Amino acid sequence: MAFDRTYRSIWLWSLAFFILAALTGVLYRLGMLVDLPGDLALSNIRHAHSHLMFFNWVTPLPMLLIASFVVRSAPEAIRAFRFWIYLVIGLGAASFPFFLFYGYQSVPIADAQLPFSVIFSGLVMVAWYGFIAVYLKYRSRSRPGLARIFYDAALLMLVISSLGAWGVAVFQFGEIENPLLSTALTHFFLTVFTHGWCVLSAFGMIYSLMDVGKIPFHESWLLGPIVIGVPLTFPFGISIDLLTNQLLITASFGALLVSVGLIANLWLMTRTMRENFTWWWLVVLNLLAAVILLLLAGGLFPFMLWIGEHGMRIFYLHVILLGFTSLCYFAIWHTRHLQASRSAFKFLTFSILFLLILLGLSSGLLPAGWHPAWFFELLTAASFLPAAAACWQWLVVWRHRPHQDTF
Ligand code: HEM
Repeated sequence: MAFDRTYRSIWLWSLAFFILAALTGVLYRLGMLVDLPGDLALSNIRHAHSHLMFFNWVTPLPMLLIASFVVRSAPEAIRAFRFWIYLVIGLGAASFPFFLFYGYQSVPIADAQLPFSVIFSGLVMVAWYGFIAVYLKYRSRSRPGLARIFYDAALLMLVISSLGAWGVAVFQFGEIENPLLSTALTHFFLTVFTHGWCVLSAFGMIYSLMDVGKIPFHESWLLGPIVIGVPLTFPFGISIDLLTNQLLITASFGALLVSVGLIANLWLMTRTMRENFTWWWLVVLNLLAAVILLLLAGGLFPFMLWIGEHGMRIFYLHVILLGFTSLCYFAIWHTRHLQASRSAFKFLTFSILFLLILLGLSSGLLPAGWHPAWFFELLTAASFLPAAAACWQWLVVWRHRPHQDTF
């Protein structure tokens, strides 16, 4: 019961920060149409949005699911897990105003200038390591199987991604001038965090719900190509004028490897769920298929579809993070609480798909001249829908107080 309360409370906090981060994204869109008050800069709003989504949405929720997986067989781990997850949330929240008003810049305080956003980001990563230390302490007692293998890999990728982020922090502090290395490190972090941590932990959550039975190929095909391929795909984030042929070939090879691993997982999940597919898993798995298609197109035809081009990059990131990953969290919640109301979830799913379709249309796939004059007003209005739907979903989670332990 104690963990049930923690589970619900971390869900509510994370979802509240999802709403705040989503509204910050809406503010960015509004800022492209009208003048914003005060000294708010669009680039800082974008940093505030993406960091809050990373620190307080796609990190604490997978950690919560990993913790719930471990505490089933090691109940005494609850307190330590709870401490580190709340610390991640607290530090992420503390970084938000600094990103919003100052970006990566230093803030004058007394006689000193301190880059608080960078400092809090560093502390968040230290809290990640704290969580991982607790996991390593108790992991041997958890149920062996695919879920645990994917959680292991996801946490490894979290550590590897953090190495890129420390590199970025060194550049920020040291004011070092090397645009290629600086963007390479940023995109190394972004790509390993997104495909490694977010996607692999989501796979772990899905596998923890199912019994996959006998797999007709070696298990390593599910994970190996992703773990090897992901770190190689970082050049996709680099703008094309900074790119060399070697980097391009590396990225394409990495994208193809990752696609092979994703296809193997998609096949296994579809085969296992075939008997009792719910509509929400159908949506989540179709979004995974969309990610694979984009990645394959980027890997095979990099000169036709450049994932690093701004509009395409924003579309691709949101298909993974807002589409596949976020809807996967909601799907897990609704799978575990089958008696909860579905209306809010349907609205949320619709709003996310609608926004993704509009982002796809603005990604450069369609010539700019084909957009109607009011397209960006529509995109701004549509970007508000997931925040509104998430408020409704928050109420559903808040009102749902299970009477017995669901773990
Ligand atoms: C809930 C609805 C969301 C809205 C309305 C939204 C909106 C936005 C907007 C307006 C931008 C800037 C676009 C541009 O530069 O042209 C952006 C960028 C970004 N968003 Fe979102 N977003 C949402 C969800 C998410 C989620 C769930 C995540 C991650 C978990 C996320 C991560 C990012 C990242 C990483 C960037 C790129 C940041 C950069 O390039 O510095 N977003 N989003």
